[in-house]
Amino acid sequence: MKIESVELRNFRNYKALELKADSNLNVFVGANAQGKTNLLEALTFLAAGKSFRTRSETEMVQWGESFCTVAGKVIHQHGDSKLKISYNAQTKHKSYIVNGKEQSKSALVRKFAAVLFTPEDLELVKGAPFLRRRFIDEEICKVSPQYEYSLARYQQVVRQRNQLLRTYRQKIIDSDELAGWNEQLAKLSAAIIKKRLAAIHRLGLLARLVHRKLTGREESFELSYRTPLTIGEEAGEEEIFSAVMAGLAQNKENEARQGQTLVGPHRDDLALRINGREARHFASQGQQRTLVLALKMAELEFFKGERGEFPVLLFDDVFSELDERRRRLLVEAIDGRVQTFITGTEVEKMGRLRVSGTVFSVADGEVKKFEEGI
Ligand SMILES: Nc1ncnc2c1ncn2[C@@H]1O[C@H](COP(=O)(O)OP(=O)(O)OP(=O)(O)O)[C@@H](O)[C@H]1O
Ligand SMILES: [Mg+2]
Repeated sequence: MKIESVELRNFRNYKALELKADSNLNVFVGANAQGKTNLLEALTFLAAGKSFRTRSETEMVQWGESFCTVAGKVIHQHGDSKLKISYNAQTKHKSYIVNGKEQSKSALVRKFAAVLFTPEDLELVKGAPFLRRRFIDEEICKVSPQYEYSLARYQQVVRQRNQLLRTYRQKIIDSDELAGWNEQLAKLSAAIIKKRLAAIHRLGLLARLVHRKLTGREESFELSYRTPLTIGEEAGEEEIFSAVMAGLAQNKENEARQGQTLVGPHRDDLALRINGREARHFASQGQQRTLVLALKMAELEFFKGERGEFPVLLFDDVFSELDERRRRLLVEAIDGRVQTFITGTEVEKMGRLRVSGTVFSVADGEVKKFEEGI
């Protein structure tokens, strides 16, 4: 899919922007604090119905204004869609408009997708487990609305179950009420973990291929699911359900003591290994960068495999940090196939990419064409 045009109103430092995007490569160059990341944020807002930078949506509304809007015309395999998302800071209401009609968030989100790579993603290797869970969950949500629903329901069940554990504080509970929650928790866990295992398997294979190319076949990358539950890599829902029930039984005392649900997908993690060793313990800066890049490239292919077309690719401030070789491999892989938006502060650092594209300059919430052809 490609986004043909983008319009912003009152979005952060953009009063009103109309941008015709290049169907291949779009490079945005500008000094700090001019609106480069804001623009990518606007695109992810349209793609995901939320910001990747903030949970407080009011922050996206231009200071002194009451609403913000991001609109775009998206060309995909089966036709075009006009999409529009607005947020009203006074009513806190978000509206999702597809081809002129108000729709649900999921209807809008299904029409446009983006894979984003930001400097924060480098934390994926060494950062806290929740970052890796979020990574895999967001990936699956992009291709499965059912998963997003299970996940939301699961979080609700964990909250309510925790509340119950806290009410009985310090006591082991053998009530029917808890048994009911356990069953629900295990059922949802099974659905979530099964999807995660499948996605990790697929993403792992794809990332491994890219990673081999990026490292000149010297390193071998492995992605797997890390869980204390005793389940096989190809476990079905029943096997996972039983494993979660067994885990809950085993953790009864601990849960009573801590007043917290200690078993389930909210406690699991992903394991990233290079040549058999845990990347989070020893990967160098360069190795982390390569790993994350491989994962991002795998995301593109994963989405394509599930949905039949590529999402758009957004690179915030990281492209210029890749060395010449990695940039070349990346460009070879995406050129002509994946519409890409790259931001950076110096056009020279982008290197001579020799692909068709457009360079824009970004200054104080205004975007202008800089030169054609890179
Ligand atoms: N709600 C808002 N209303 C108006 N301006 C805003 C709002 N939120 C942020 N800004 C402005 O946007 C600027 C940041 O823009 P952005 O993050 O896109 O910069 P950038 O071009 O990516 O810079 P860098 O190169 O440092 O990453 C802030 O400095 C602020 O002035
Ligand atoms: Mg920025």
